Amino acid sequence: MTSYIRWQGCTENYATHQAVEPRRDYANFQTSFTEESATFEDVSRSTVGDAEFVRRDNFSADTAKYTRVKNNQERTWYAWVMSFSSRIKWSLEENRLTQLLAEKRRAGVCLFDLTEANPTRAGFAFPEPEILAALANPAALRYEPEARGLPHAREAVATYYRERGFAVDPERIHLTASTSEAYAYLFKLLTDQGDEVLIPQPSYPLFEFLAALEGVVLRPYELEYVHPGGWRMDFASLAQSLNARTRAVMLVNPNNPTGSFVKRGELAQLNELCARHDLALIVDEVFGDYGLGDDERRAASLVENEGALTFVLSGFSKILALPQMKLGWIVTNGPDALRDEARERLDLIADTFLSVSAPVQHAAAHWLALRAPLQRQILDRAQENLTWLAARLTDSPCRLLTVEGGWYATLEIPRLRPEEDVVLRLLAEDDVLVHPGYFFDFAREAFLVVSLLPPPATFQTALTRLLARVSQH
Ligand SMILES: Cc1ncc(COP(=O)(O)O)c(C=O)c1O
Repeated sequence: MTSYIRWQGCTENYATHQAVEPRRDYANFQTSFTEESATFEDVSRSTVGDAEFVRRDNFSADTAKYTRVKNNQERTWYAWVMSFSSRIKWSLEENRLTQLLAEKRRAGVCLFDLTEANPTRAGFAFPEPEILAALANPAALRYEPEARGLPHAREAVATYYRERGFAVDPERIHLTASTSEAYAYLFKLLTDQGDEVLIPQPSYPLFEFLAALEGVVLRPYELEYVHPGGWRMDFASLAQSLNARTRAVMLVNPNNPTGSFVKRGELAQLNELCARHDLALIVDEVFGDYGLGDDERRAASLVENEGALTFVLSGFSKILALPQMKLGWIVTNGPDALRDEARERLDLIADTFLSVSAPVQHAAAHWLALRAPLQRQILDRAQENLTWLAARLTDSPCRLLTVEGGWYATLEIPRLRPEEDVVLRLLAEDDVLVHPGYFFDFAREAFLVVSLLPPPATFQTALTRLLARVSQH
């Protein structure tokens, strides 16, 4: 439990020499009244400035009585103690990389940003008039609450899958404001406080936050890399992480940042494991349209998977490169009875929030029709950057790990220094910003993850500097 202590100040009513409850008796407060605030993990003993406070007892429900020890004199003070949920378990302090980045930005330094994965800032040509015109639909002036989302918007998502060769009944779709929200719905649906979900390692860093905010415990299972074949699921580590509290297995297909697809053989094993242990599959397919090349072994999408209760997540943030429009979804599938029960329970959760805006739902079909040229630009950019990088590495101590899709590439660098040192030096001395592998929870060092979205000129300058720096070490 983290507590926020707001010091109320001096404590005695001088007229009566009685202790006063500061928040209710301001009028009689001493002129020495001060206010200081601080956050403490341990409210039993705290230090503010040069004074030490020792907690004595609770004065009232939210006010604690402290003895202030200063210059060997003791006085009783009162503090209002506000406690926040331990779900917010992260330090609010900036780390060294964030501090250095803020300094560079304040100084107006031109940075070469290899973490840039915001498609709206990467120089792609968007059909702006069409995107904006679709938002001006008069139908959006009506409020039509629908737990699963407006029927024609769900029909548009089903059409998107049909065009990819997959049959999805619109009644199996729940629209959400993002895939992040979709995760939150699924954790509410499947878990109680302290229940566990298995996640791939390495993978998407936001899982830690999404799970903790819902009271879910994450257990990693490893993805193993074999060069040049690529990444595969380590089922032995998955079995080790399973226990009586496990409720679901998460997959990212293709994964961020490894770019690896789930293979058909792996899916068969997963279905069998989920059926045996009553687990659900949660499959994030936001990068599903960004496969590089074809490979028969890939499970391109799990929307038709019936072997286990399956929830496929996707949305406009990657499919349309429009994360600001905030539309995601869940496609539910699996054995009939289980699937229908899950859908109805999801209805209840979604009906509580009704979070997708009407203009976005009315625009959905129009926007989805615009996706092909956008995706083409992104795929061409990713492929161009990747091809350049592969050629540049022929005579380098760094190795490019095999990428099957997505917006990232992973470089294995010599393990001479900790990743953090490398990343800090790159920013401090070369003005290059790059993600260290530990950001994605790689099982070991040393890796750097680069976005494939930056314009080629930026990408090439940044990587030329990066490779020079890494080769020096
Ligand atoms: C694997 C993965 N899932 C989901 C998201 C975010 O999607 P949304 O904007 O719909 O929450 C991202 C964003 O980078 C991602 O990498």
